[in-house]
Amino acid sequence: MSELDRERREMVAVLQRPGVRPDPSLRITRRTFIHKSCLTGAATVAQTFAWWPLLNTIDVAHAAEQPFKFAWVSDTHLYPRSLNTRFVEKVVRAANEVQAMSPPADFMIFGGDLAQLGKIEELVLGNELLKEIKIRKVFIPGEHDWYLDMGKKWGELFGQPNWTFDHKGVRFVGLDTVSRGPDYWTVRKMTPEERMGHMATLDGSVAGPWAGVGRDQLDWLQKILADWDKSRPVVIFSHNPLYEYYPPWNFWVRDWREVNDVLKPYTKVTNIHGHVHQVLYNEIGTMRSIGMLATSWPWPYAPEGVPKLTKPMIRADPGDFYDGVGRSEISMNNDRIENEYIMWGRKQVFVQSAPDSSLSQPEILRPRVADQIGPY
Ligand SMILES: [Fe+2]
Ligand SMILES: [Fe+2]
Repeated sequence: MSELDRERREMVAVLQRPGVRPDPSLRITRRTFIHKSCLTGAATVAQTFAWWPLLNTIDVAHAAEQPFKFAWVSDTHLYPRSLNTRFVEKVVRAANEVQAMSPPADFMIFGGDLAQLGKIEELVLGNELLKEIKIRKVFIPGEHDWYLDMGKKWGELFGQPNWTFDHKGVRFVGLDTVSRGPDYWTVRKMTPEERMGHMATLDGSVAGPWAGVGRDQLDWLQKILADWDKSRPVVIFSHNPLYEYYPPWNFWVRDWREVNDVLKPYTKVTNIHGHVHQVLYNEIGTMRSIGMLATSWPWPYAPEGVPKLTKPMIRADPGDFYDGVGRSEISMNNDRIENEYIMWGRKQVFVQSAPDSSLSQPEILRPRVADQIGPY
């Protein structure tokens, strides 16, 4: 049995115990909005706002004290302005849209990978572009932001990579899942650019399983949740998903067991994460997990399948730079969380059948291997 298979079997045994599900008082409904896109530019933002394609709305019963909305933007992967104006335009578009939200969002979370190669000018550019958003902004880092200078510039611009605050009856937590990667560079005498280059590769075998929370941060997480009633809502933002989806691409955190140990007493935990650049939904133990779109490009689904609760989006049209990407608006009201993916440029949204006839290549999507393993 391979190491990965062993890991998967352990995950099923630990996280998917018989009868363990998210809080039974929580309801999930998925509503699909497929609107005709009539967006033509920033000037029409207010007018066309309600007509952008929305999809895979997830209602989760929760107990916020007052209804409110917040916005998610992530994975902008900015190069210097002169190298890639298209990615800059997408950030400008996201910023304009968030700023145009009415009523305004209470805050915006930026979920990591602001930069592509972690360069100072990339991070500064992202910070400048996002200044157009005047509401409160909070940030967590992605691996692309970090591994050139080990988070120095990111920290100067955005402060602590992990934090917590309470807002209208919900405890929000920002986790840093990127900075504790095992050192693969010192012994190989890599330059910072070489180190970053390995991080910038999705299936980079040299960087290995870099995503993790770390013992010190787990202790911190336990501490900041200690005074929180176990049945009150907790929303955890992380760059990487907090469960094992596909380790070769770091679509996980390697210490998911310990994360689960800390979170399992809490019955209303929602993890919202970036890094995967795709529509993704899963329930792990008592926690719900939602993957967010990037503004830059969509990653493919993992070759070994998707969580069986995910309703997958179709493969993006490679000729349309706005296809398969976007941002999210999340509403919290008395009894639910509703996530609306706002996907740009999408004509069709969901996979209707395994081979999608609209695509030149058939796309085969199936439940991931871990979901096909029975409990042991
Ligand atoms: Fe990313
Ligand atoms: Fe990432």
